[in-house]
Amino acid sequence: MNLARHIEQYLPSPLLELMLHINAEAAERGETLYLVGGIVRDLLLSLSSPGPPTGLRFDLDLVVEGDAVKLATQAATTGRPRLLAHHRFGTAKLKYETFTLDLATARKETYERPGALPRVTPGTLKDDLIRRDFSINAMAMSLATQDYGELIDPHKGKTDLEQGLIRVLHAASFSDDPTRILRAVRYEQRLGFVLEAETAQLLEQSIPMLDAISGDRIRHELEMILREDRPELAINRLGELGALSRIGHILTGDDWLAASFDRARRLKRPAQLPAIYLCLMVYPYHEDEVEQVLTRLSTPAKLSRAIRDTLRLKGRLHLLDRPALKPSEVYDLLQEYDLTAIQASVAASDSPEVRRHLQLFLTKLRHITTLLDGEDLKRLGIPAGPHMGQILQTLRRARLDGEVSTRADEERLASELTQYRSPSAKQEGQGR
Ligand code: CTP
Repeated sequence: MNLARHIEQYLPSPLLELMLHINAEAAERGETLYLVGGIVRDLLLSLSSPGPPTGLRFDLDLVVEGDAVKLATQAATTGRPRLLAHHRFGTAKLKYETFTLDLATARKETYERPGALPRVTPGTLKDDLIRRDFSINAMAMSLATQDYGELIDPHKGKTDLEQGLIRVLHAASFSDDPTRILRAVRYEQRLGFVLEAETAQLLEQSIPMLDAISGDRIRHELEMILREDRPELAINRLGELGALSRIGHILTGDDWLAASFDRARRLKRPAQLPAIYLCLMVYPYHEDEVEQVLTRLSTPAKLSRAIRDTLRLKGRLHLLDRPALKPSEVYDLLQEYDLTAIQASVAASDSPEVRRHLQLFLTKLRHITTLLDGEDLKRLGIPAGPHMGQILQTLRRARLDGEVSTRADEERLASELTQYRSPSAKQEGQGR
């Protein structure tokens, strides 16, 4: 099967030009370049589904029978991409403004023990395809002049795509790399496929091996799932398989989680969604149990803070469940919490009143500042110090509650507040 015409229609023209430019550089070096992995799979899928292609992702994976780092370095002299090279793995990333190209030296991989990073040696395209996770991801398209566009499919990935099957290439695939358990489920649920029978068996047997995987790698794969359009599908499935509780004993997929994920999507914060989803996954649980999960996943500080704040805020949400709250009261309650935690709380709460207050804070209150700043207050004769901080806070509250609206209003209120201070307090401030 030749895909030349299809790839030219499928790729945006600047990306196609980039690929052809790198291909020309490879040919000049006497090396052969191939398009591999997800892009080939998605191109074939788009051919078999009616209508325009949907869900396109354009991070190209290229494999070269040659030296990928040298090729990328040479290609990077035009177009000014950012070049990230990994000499140890023979891989390089070219980051252009709107696209990313991953170049890899065709390689052979051997695993010394389950979960360890593989030992890598240079190889052929054939070696490179057999080290891959599933048949549908182990196809390539040749970019060589003599057979440009030819599909290279030694593991019958195209047939599996047509039959809707996720199939590993060999029996040791999951034990070599147990993160493939999460990947298998991610593709299965994204594509509406099923695990081929033997693959399903191997996957279930390998679940205990997840224990051997580092927190960073597990978290990375979990985040890949949380970037899917409907991650609850894969989360539920991992739960049924017993893989989720192997990662974190409290983690499960259920109807509440699915409904809260759905509410999270309605917040329209796509960049924050994976973090919000993670906050929701641990929402029902106790802090001590959640701490164990944070440790298991080597959760970075920023994400840990969002998760801890979500649990802390959970205990105070009832304070927002009152209709007569002033905006300044809502502000005072929420201003110390991480924004992701507040967003997660909108998705988690089943009280419309609480959600309304959280949304009011997110969309309006947190952006409201006073018109006067510290310099203005100094000009009004108010010295810097804790008292000035208190005046600014009072001004902000008055502004939030609509009691002041102009600079003159704020100046008046600031002067009143200073006059009410006791003479001794004023003297203290004057020394500054
Ligand atoms: N791969 C693998 N084993 C892994 C990770 C990746 O074999 N544990 C291979 C697969 O062939 C995969 C390719 O590396 O196709 C690139 O991986 P990745 O970027 O994670 O996935 P894509 O195929 O690009 O798929 P998508 O981005 O659509 O998830």
